[in-house]
Amino acid sequence: MNNIFNFDKNSIKIASEFLISGDVIAFATETVYGLGADARSDKAVSKIFKLKNRPDFNPLIVHVNSLNEVFNYVYKTPLAIKLAEKYWPGPLTLILERKKACKISLLVSAGLNSIAIRIPNHKPFLNLLNSSKIPIAAPSANKSGKLSPTCANDVRDDFGDNIKMILDDGFTKGGLESTVIDARNDNPILLRPGLISSEEIEKNLKVKFLMDNNIIIESPGQLLRHYSPNSKLIINSTLPQDNDAFLTFKNIKPDKKFSGIQLNLSKKGNLEEVASNLFKMLRKVDKKNPNKIVVAPIPDKGVGRAINNRLQRASNQNGY
Ligand code: TXA
Ligand code: MG
Repeated sequence: MNNIFNFDKNSIKIASEFLISGDVIAFATETVYGLGADARSDKAVSKIFKLKNRPDFNPLIVHVNSLNEVFNYVYKTPLAIKLAEKYWPGPLTLILERKKACKISLLVSAGLNSIAIRIPNHKPFLNLLNSSKIPIAAPSANKSGKLSPTCANDVRDDFGDNIKMILDDGFTKGGLESTVIDARNDNPILLRPGLISSEEIEKNLKVKFLMDNNIIIESPGQLLRHYSPNSKLIINSTLPQDNDAFLTFKNIKPDKKFSGIQLNLSKKGNLEEVASNLFKMLRKVDKKNPNKIVVAPIPDKGVGRAINNRLQRASNQNGY
């Protein structure tokens, strides 16, 4: 069966009908591919958890296409408005308090009284939200714990024919997930680093993140081992052995003679380029079943923090 379709007007019409009838579909966004369903329907949302094999205590992000709609579901805060004005539509997810009469399924927020919500910056996805008139709950379209998908074939590799449609818009622009921020109080709290760095937000909006010695307060359900390839992953190393794959950065060379597969995350040393290549290249070398995947050190600043967060989780051997 071919379930990969161009993300165009025609397929958006069919996809809207699937969403309206409570089905799950996958689609491109500006960050990673998402696996979405009607956020108001317990039945539709529970299908996402089941397909991904996701623990039910790990809440999902709701995607909508206007600020008005956001504030139908969650309470406004001055900080949320400030962040929304600067970064929406875009790769920023806000955690806000659920309104009393809110129609979003409680399964989406794993029973919490907050909701994670964002307006994506991706034309076809916004068209899908417009056409279906449905708030779409969507985690990344990968099996729980595995590498996030940055193209339609990645989604197909994980789910095969178990989803009716994968709306294809090539490789995603960002390559990494949105930044998740708790915006319920005066100071933002970083729950998951992402494409927009906390440094950038502090500089642009003159706000200060609440952080205890830079310890990131975790989102519920974030697992220690996550985003993992099948092969063993070693990070911050320049010592690959011959049957390994080596992901390097800028002009970093292996310490010893190395004849295995080698890819450069960014020859220019550009961290946005590393973000867009990270999951793509990890998936690519993982398919070749190397002994190990070795990744060179990546600077821990700006979007580099999100990159290192994913790499650390991906390399964690301690399971959950
Ligand atoms: O870029 C993205 O954010 C992608 C695209 C599809 O939008 N989605 C994504 O979803 O990465 P997912 O499910 O892989 O990650 C959602 C993150 C998790 O870390 C989860 O714990 C957190 O958001 N989250 C969701 N609801 C929350 C809530 N009510 N409170 C705190 N954290 C929450
Ligand atoms: Mg995910």
